[in-house]
Amino acid sequence: MTIIAPSILSADPGRLAEEIQAIEAAGADWLHLDIMDGHFTPNLTFGPWIVELAKKNSKLPLDTHLMVTDPMTYGPIFAKAGADFVSIHVESAPHLHRALEAIQKAGAKPGLALNPLTPLAFLEPTWDLLDLIVLMGVNPGWAGQSFIPQTEDRVAQVAQMLANLKKPRSILLEVDGGVSNQTAPLLKKAGATVLVSGSYVFKASDYSQAILSLRD
Ligand code: DX5
Ligand code: ZN
Repeated sequence: MTIIAPSILSADPGRLAEEIQAIEAAGADWLHLDIMDGHFTPNLTFGPWIVELAKKNSKLPLDTHLMVTDPMTYGPIFAKAGADFVSIHVESAPHLHRALEAIQKAGAKPGLALNPLTPLAFLEPTWDLLDLIVLMGVNPGWAGQSFIPQTEDRVAQVAQMLANLKKPRSILLEVDGGVSNQTAPLLKKAGATVLVSGSYVFKASDYSQAILSLRD
């Protein structure tokens, strides 16, 4: 079954605790936390306090997406704060191996995120180090952007790469950005196992209906 991970970036910021409780009650599988530093992305969002707030208000696994220029520093900080998954961007880390290992040592499952035009070949040497791959369906920065259609083919290519692994590993394949009831069926068919959704889910009047429409 597809894992649905609503991004609380699109929740009402004045009522974050209630929004987290409501999205869990509506059937979310994970919570997706978008961390932006104002350097890797033009936008700024949350510090590690968001992990503590989410843990206080939910039992769901926390999927932390670091869009920061210094994942070597912030990866372990978010892992130690209690995130279950900590994903960093391949475009941000000159020492990827070290950064992924540091996240694992700090107690979280490491993930690797790729921007829409980043070559998939970057994944080749990383399989043994990863629990999650995040393919961006938009350029990182904001919720509510249009889905980039080439993402569908990129998902299919990574699913094939995973199926061809000589040493098979269960690595989750997540799509983040532009996920809606229009794009979800294509992405699931292409092989996505985790779907992040911000604006589609949080703009809906019925959160549980919106989550169901992505899952089915
Ligand atoms: C984009 C973020 C996404 C975003 C998704 O920079 O990483 O997680 O919040 O939002 P939607 O689903 O609205 O594209
Ligand atoms: Zn994200």
